[in-house]
Amino acid sequence: MTALQTLQRSFAATPGYLNASTLGLPPRPVVSAMSDLMSQWQRGDTDPVALGADVEASRAAYAHMVNVPASAVAVGSMTSVFAGTIATSLPPNAEVVVIAEDFTSMIFPFLVQRDAGLQVRQVPRIDLAEAIRPNTDLVVFSLAQSACGSLVDLEAVLRAARACDAMTLCDTTQAAGWLPIDASQFDVTACSAYKWLCQPRGTAYMTLSPRASDLLRPNNAGWYAGASVWDSVYGPEMDLATDARRLDVSPAWFCWSAGLAAMELFAQVPTQEIRDHDVSLANEFRSRIGQAPGVTPVVTLADPGADLVRAFAATGGKISSRAGCARIAFHVWNSLADVDLAAEAVAHSRITGRA
Ligand SMILES: Cc1ncc(COP(=O)(O)O)c(C=O)c1O
Repeated sequence: MTALQTLQRSFAATPGYLNASTLGLPPRPVVSAMSDLMSQWQRGDTDPVALGADVEASRAAYAHMVNVPASAVAVGSMTSVFAGTIATSLPPNAEVVVIAEDFTSMIFPFLVQRDAGLQVRQVPRIDLAEAIRPNTDLVVFSLAQSACGSLVDLEAVLRAARACDAMTLCDTTQAAGWLPIDASQFDVTACSAYKWLCQPRGTAYMTLSPRASDLLRPNNAGWYAGASVWDSVYGPEMDLATDARRLDVSPAWFCWSAGLAAMELFAQVPTQEIRDHDVSLANEFRSRIGQAPGVTPVVTLADPGADLVRAFAATGGKISSRAGCARIAFHVWNSLADVDLAAEAVAHSRITGRA
């Protein structure tokens, strides 16, 4: 059995679950780990030190997956918190360019700093590279957009950012887990791991370049930001960690320990194999509904009243409604049987005129 097949067989997905863009599913080892953690907790057997070791193992595996050293990875629980740290670390009149239609966690932490002098320009995704100017300090974008899965033109954006010496913050939440990521290309990446990486919600990773590391103020520094975590629990004498760990937020232990089981399964599979599997299912679906092939595993269809989403839910499947469209996401647990279900639902709704 290949590593991809082992990963695929570790899921117990309901047929028609095409919703990784909203919430990834847990592989069975995540469910058993979480159940064991609950039992240990119930018995009073939880060992915080052992749970901390699981956080470090996740950090190392994620670092390897996105091509940076573990010392460049900070852990937290939500993307918006990382974005807030970046927004509050910028000089007062800094210029930030964001994508107007991006996910809120990539926009609002910057917008709320406008009264402190931050200049925020909002541009459409397709204009992002052109919008970067010599006075731009930071370019903020989700690599794969939340509402539709569309990708940013990375080459163009990185070229423009380099030419203007602007820093980059790339949200990989809708990409890591199906798209190979080289986080070393960016100043900062942020990833909430509960979607395509199939971890419990409450685990998030941030990677930092050396210049981002110099810039960022650890505004959430609690005991986990200390050089030695368990020597940092009281008083003002704590030495901050010298690497990205000083930006750690103390971990939601159970999520991290259970999530490690998913990290280990994903780490066994070259991400391009996952991409090929996911995108080929999406392209089969695109061809059945008369759309041109694409390069992402997310397909959208106009569905302003969410009729298709409701009709599909009535068959026991799950897709999501975003920005007036039905959003249909194919991931490792899906197969051609799910393509059949989704294509039948679209054909049926076209006949009945409900989408
Ligand atoms: C691109 C993107 N980033 C981040 C998130 C989640 O943000 P947070 O971790 O702040 O809840 C989502 C959720 O849909 C998303 O699509």
